[in-house]
Amino acid sequence: MSKKITLSVIKADVGGYVGHSSVHPELLEKARSMLSGSPLLIDYHVTHVGDDINLILTHEAGCDNEEIHKLTWETFLACTDLAKRMKLYGAGQDLLSDAFSGNIKGMGPGVAEMEFEERKSEPVVIFMADKTEPGAWNFPSYKMFADPFNTAGLVIDPKMHNGFNFDVRDLVKHRKVVFSCPEDIYDMLVFIGAPGRFCIKSVYHRDTGEICSTSSTQRLNLMAGRYIGKDDPVMIVRTQSGFPALGEVLEPFANPHLVSGWMRGSHSGPLMPVGLDNNNPTRFDGPPRATALGFQLAEGKLQGPQDFFKDPSYDKARETANEIAQYLRRLGPFEPHRLHLDEMEYTSMPEVSEKLKSRFVDLL
Ligand code: F6R
Ligand code: MG
Ligand code: MG
Repeated sequence: MSKKITLSVIKADVGGYVGHSSVHPELLEKARSMLSGSPLLIDYHVTHVGDDINLILTHEAGCDNEEIHKLTWETFLACTDLAKRMKLYGAGQDLLSDAFSGNIKGMGPGVAEMEFEERKSEPVVIFMADKTEPGAWNFPSYKMFADPFNTAGLVIDPKMHNGFNFDVRDLVKHRKVVFSCPEDIYDMLVFIGAPGRFCIKSVYHRDTGEICSTSSTQRLNLMAGRYIGKDDPVMIVRTQSGFPALGEVLEPFANPHLVSGWMRGSHSGPLMPVGLDNNNPTRFDGPPRATALGFQLAEGKLQGPQDFFKDPSYDKARETANEIAQYLRRLGPFEPHRLHLDEMEYTSMPEVSEKLKSRFVDLL
């Protein structure tokens, strides 16, 4: 039996370059220098999507490990110091506290972690998105693990024919429920079709109980009680040999779905799959975008990445996303481009209502 490896993806926006569009290369270098040589880690990879720095780490310390979380907290603090000196935009925006409290969860950064026994061969994909929210993964996760029109293996691979269990979180009431699919699909869709509140946290193989995917489910705006930044999410997915094939995991992104989080966290837009070279949101601070990096693990060593959405087979998806974006932008301040009142992260409603209160007349 091989030893257990933990794969942690921890991300934060600690300052944008320029505005909220990207991360300055010096911040990425700073993050690398903080992680380099750490005796806690087997390996690491530092990257960014939009204005978020993503730390991809492998180690043997398990999930929620205090030392690992402290290392990432200190890395983000060092990057924040640099961002402040460089006067980068919104420096330190995702760090909600000055003092580390033992677990980075709840302190601002997004966290997705899983511990597993490395298989004979362990292909994994790290999905990272900007200008959206954790529920953005609901639709693709459902397609990967429960939709036979997406994942042929659900029908024709005996190793996955029994389906998957979905751990779904209620972000408002802080509770969870597990759905066994395919039986529970209709019930589950009642909840996960509302991605602003219900998020698929993790997916497990039903026969073996093995973890297949996990995502970050922080809601920074709710945690802080006010808007600070979006909770641009990450998700780890293990693929092949009884899990969905790599191509089945990537397939849902061929049809860009609408997500919340574009401009001021208050608009919906298509989630555009992009390669690393194109992951700097621009138009109307977007459109929201997702990157997928693949690694083959070898005793925890991260061999990669493969930049999947760079592939020309996603050109059509980008074209579709841009068409949808073009259409939605014409709606300007009208719903459904602008989010419903209770979903917007920016609003002038209280001030404007106060100003106009004498002009409102009750109707009999
Ligand atoms: C931030 C984001 C942006 C900002 C917008 C306004 O991740 O998505 O759309 O919300 O640029 O930013 P401020 O209020 O900082 O000027
Ligand atoms: Mg930002
Ligand atoms: Mg961001």
